[in-house]
Amino acid sequence: MASQPIDMRHSPLIEVDQLVVSPAFEADLKGILIPKGYVDARIEKLAADVSETTVNGDLLAICVLNGAMHFYDKLIGQISQPVEVDTIRLGSYCGTSSTGVILEYPFDYRKCQGRDVLVVEDIIDTGRTLERLVGRIKAENPLSLRVACLLDKPERRDSTVTLKPDYVGFVIPDLFVVGYGLDFNNRYRGLPHIAVLQDQLTR
Ligand code: HPA
Ligand code: MG
Repeated sequence: MASQPIDMRHSPLIEVDQLVVSPAFEADLKGILIPKGYVDARIEKLAADVSETTVNGDLLAICVLNGAMHFYDKLIGQISQPVEVDTIRLGSYCGTSSTGVILEYPFDYRKCQGRDVLVVEDIIDTGRTLERLVGRIKAENPLSLRVACLLDKPERRDSTVTLKPDYVGFVIPDLFVVGYGLDFNNRYRGLPHIAVLQDQLTR
């Protein structure tokens, strides 16, 4: 059994001057929701959960680019089984709103046939993009199919989406977050902490 996510929905934000934040980002951030050490500690546990629950040892771990790259790197480096790495690029975001148009880049889904597939996502909000990806992989009859996501925003879930991720780092409130790979128009990915953007930037 995978461990329960840590619920951050009622955590007060940490002031940007209470941790080290690049001056380039400081003015744009309302506060820090999850400091990097906390994120790292949780990923260590998610890696242990994945290692424990993957039975066949033929893991194909697919990183959903670009947002999941930091999470993916940390996660697979700590999985105590051989892991074949792969990446896929999908996206429906422009600014802070999901455009609803799911962009697809070429990916040969046939490589998922008969494999233990782990899809690694940064964040689930509406869940539409991820549900569609999971459907495409399922159609190839993998041996098993699991989803790991660092962050989950359940308040944003589309009512038609039934997908439940198997490994979740943190449940977060419906606020736009950046850092640890997550972006706003491709900025802030390198911020080490998970932080909330100032409202005026995302409105
Ligand atoms: N931040 C960055 N990317 C996202 C978010 C978010 O809060 N929600 C969905 N994609
Ligand atoms: Mg993403």
